[in-house]
Amino acid sequence: MTTAVAFARARAGCALRCAARCVETSGTRAPTSTARRPGTSARARRRLVAVRSAARPTFVTTPIYYVNDQPHIGHVYTSTVADACARFRRARGEDVFFLTGTDEHGLKVEQSAGKRGIEPQALADENSAKFRDVMTSYDISFDDFIRTTDARHERQVRALVKLLQERDAVYLGQFEGWYDEGQEEYYTESKAKELDYKSPISGKDMVRSSEENYYFRLSKFQKELEALHANNPEFLTPSARRNEMIARLNEGLNDVPISRTNFKWGIQMPEDEKHVIYVWIDALMNYITAIGLGDGKDDAVYAERSKYWPASVHIMAKEISWFHSVIWPALLMALELPLPQRVHAHAFWIREGRKMSKSLGNFVDLACMNRFKEHYGLDAMRYYLAVEGPIGANDANFSAERVQEIYSSDLVNTLGNSVSRTTAMVNKYFGGEVQSEESNGARVTFENWDWPARTSSSVQDAMNAYDKLDLPRAAAAAKQIVMDVDIFITETEPFRMAKDESKRAELSACLYQCLESLRIACVLLEPLMPNKMAEFDAGVGLGEGTLDERTKWGGLKPGTKVQKLALFPRVEGLNENGEPINSS
Ligand code: MSP
Repeated sequence: MTTAVAFARARAGCALRCAARCVETSGTRAPTSTARRPGTSARARRRLVAVRSAARPTFVTTPIYYVNDQPHIGHVYTSTVADACARFRRARGEDVFFLTGTDEHGLKVEQSAGKRGIEPQALADENSAKFRDVMTSYDISFDDFIRTTDARHERQVRALVKLLQERDAVYLGQFEGWYDEGQEEYYTESKAKELDYKSPISGKDMVRSSEENYYFRLSKFQKELEALHANNPEFLTPSARRNEMIARLNEGLNDVPISRTNFKWGIQMPEDEKHVIYVWIDALMNYITAIGLGDGKDDAVYAERSKYWPASVHIMAKEISWFHSVIWPALLMALELPLPQRVHAHAFWIREGRKMSKSLGNFVDLACMNRFKEHYGLDAMRYYLAVEGPIGANDANFSAERVQEIYSSDLVNTLGNSVSRTTAMVNKYFGGEVQSEESNGARVTFENWDWPARTSSSVQDAMNAYDKLDLPRAAAAAKQIVMDVDIFITETEPFRMAKDESKRAELSACLYQCLESLRIACVLLEPLMPNKMAEFDAGVGLGEGTLDERTKWGGLKPGTKVQKLALFPRVEGLNENGEPINSS
C-alpha cells in the first residue's frame, strides 16, 4: 500500500475541509537548518529553537521556477513574500516547513539544451544552481530546495500517477486540440478562438495537434471544485482571482491530457515508455513529494515531514492560479489527500505600465536587481518589494524613483533616524544604559501617550496583516509606531528635560518609552528586514520568546546596555537600470 493510500484512509472524509488541519503529527522533526540560515542572529536562532517544539506545523511554498528562464524580480518577489510569511510564522512559534525549488522537465528545456549542444540535465543543473544562489543571496530561509529531477521526486511522481491510474482517475485516450507550444498548454476550441488562436503569453500561433494521451478525469471533480470555491472564500485569494476561477468553472471542465509523446525530457508514465508525464502534473506534485507523501509509510522523510500536509499556503503569481486552484485540488481529491488551506496568487511587477517581457527587453533582471541590492542593501530592497509589490490584484510598477523615495522616507528619515536619535540620547544622558520608566514604584506617563495601548493596537494590526499576507499593511503598522515616537520626541522634548536635574525620572521614562516602542516596531519588521533587525538586536535587543511575548510592553529591561545605531545611511538615487544617475 503506498503512503498516499495509507494517508488517504487515515484522513478519509476530510478532503474538502480545507480550513481544518487534518494531519496528525507522525514523528518528531529534526531541527531544520536555522543554524545556517542567513539573516538570523545567534540570539534569534536560540529563540527559534526554543519555540519550535510542540508547535503547530505550517507549510509555506513558492512555485518551483522553470530552469529555462533566468531569475528576475518576479522570482525574487514571490520568494521574498513567502519568506516573510515563513519568518513571521516561525516567530509566532509555529513549526514551519518552507519549500522552494526548480521545475526542470519539458520540451522547452530539451530544446534549449539542444541549441547549446548540451544534455537537458546539464542545463537544468546550471540554471537550478542559479535559482538556488538567488534564494541564498536574498536571504530566503527555505528548509528544502526540491528539483523535479531529484530521484526522490521522480520516484514518487511515478507512484502517485500509478495510484491515479489504479483509481481510474487517469485513462488512455485520443486527443485533438489547440496547443500553445511555448507554454506547453492545450486550449479548448472556444478558448483558442477567443484568443484568436494565438498564445496569450508569446503571441505565437497555436498549432492544431492530435495525440494519444493519458487523461486526468478533471470533469469528474466539477461539482466538488465548484463547492470548494463557493464555500471557501479564503481558499483562493485575492477575491478577483477567485471570481475568475468560478467563472471558468462555470464554463464546464474537460478531462485534461497529462502525458506527452513529442519529447523525452520528463518522467516516464508508469509502464509506458512512449509517454512522459506532463510537466505541470510533475511540477505540482513537488509539494507532496518533498514531504514524502508518495513514498512508503516507513520512509524517514515521510515520518518527519508528513505532518506538514496540507500546505498552509501556496504563494505564486496570477498566471498559474488555474493550475493551483483547480487542477491541483482535483489531483489531491483523486489521491484522497487533504487540500491546501490557501492559494495566494498575487499580481505582476510591471515596468512603465507595461508587462515585463523578453521581447520588450524591460525585465528587471537579476543583474539589475543586484545593483539595487548592492547600493541600498538587501533589507532595504526586501522592504521596497514588500511595501510596493503587487501582493493583491493590481500590478505594481517597478520604479527606481520609488525605491529612492521609500528608502529615504521610511528607512533613513523615519526608522533609521528615530533609532539613531533615541540610542544617541540614551548614550548621551545615561551612559548607554536603559533606565526604568518607573519612579517610586509607578509608571511615569505623558498626557495622551498611552504607549502600551498604542503599540498593542499596532501589533494587532501588523499580526492580522501578516496573517493575510498583506505586507504593505504590516509594514505600515510598524512604521506608525516609529512616526509616533518622532512626534512624541518633538512634543516632550527630552533634550530640554536633560538640562533640568529635577526632570531625571521624566527623562528616563521618556527615553524608555521611545526605545521600547522602537523595539516593538523592529520586532514587527523582522520578517521583512532580518539583517537590519539583527543589528538592532545586537545594539539594543529585540527580546526573547514568541512574537506575542516579544511584542508585549516591558520587554526591554532597565540596565540593558545600548549602542548608538545608524541603521540606514543616506545614499543617492539610481537610474532605472540600477546605475548611478550621473554615470555616462
Ligand atoms: N514552473 C512553473 C511553476 C510550477 S509550480 C508547481 C512556473 N515557473 S516560472 O519560472 O515561470 O515562475 C512563475 C512565477 O514566478 C510566478 O507565478 C511568480 O511567482 C513569479 N513571477 C514571474 N514573473 C513575475 C512578475 N512579473 N511579477 C511577479 N511575479 C512573477 O510558472
